[in-house]
Amino acid sequence: MKVLMVCLGNICRSPIAEGILQHLSDSQGLGWQVDSAGTSGWHQGEAPDGRSQQVAAKYGIDISQQKSRKFTVADFDQFDLIFAMDTSNFNDILKLARNPEDRSKVSMILEQTNPGMNRSVPDPYYEGGFEGVYTMLYEACNAVVEEYHLKAQQH
Ligand code: 4NP
Repeated sequence: MKVLMVCLGNICRSPIAEGILQHLSDSQGLGWQVDSAGTSGWHQGEAPDGRSQQVAAKYGIDISQQKSRKFTVADFDQFDLIFAMDTSNFNDILKLARNPEDRSKVSMILEQTNPGMNRSVPDPYYEGGFEGVYTMLYEACNAVVEEYHLKAQQH
C-alpha cells in the first residue's frame, strides 16, 4: 500500500501522520510506503516544525529527516490512498483530481475514526495543541492499518 498524508504546510500535521503510519507499517512488517505533502509550497525543503518533531520523538518516532514538499497531480498516480488533514486540504486536493479514480483515492483522515462526521485535524501552527494532534492521528493511523491490512488479510 502506498499512502500519502496531506496538510497545508507539510511541516506540522502531515509529517506526524507520515511518521506514525510508517512506524506502524515497519513495526508490523507491512511493507507500506508512506509519504506526506502540503497543498501550499510555503515551506518547501524545510524539516518538520520543532514542535512536531518533539511530540513524535516523545513517542519514539523520529521525523527529523522529513522534508516539506508540495502536493502535485502526479501524486494521484504514485499513491493508492491520499488522506487530507482538513476540509480545505481536501477541497484543494480534489481541485487537482483529473477523473473519478483520482477522486476515489482522497478522504479525510479523521473519517477513519469518526466516519460521516467530516472532522478536521485542527491546524496547530499558530494555536498549538500538538499532543492532541498526535493522539488523533495515532488513532486514525491504527484504523487505517486495521481497514486496509487486517481486513484485507481476512478475505
Ligand atoms: P500544517 O501547519 O499544515 O499542519 O503543516 C501549517 C504550517 C504552516 C502554516 C500553516 C499551517 N503557515 O501558514 O505557514
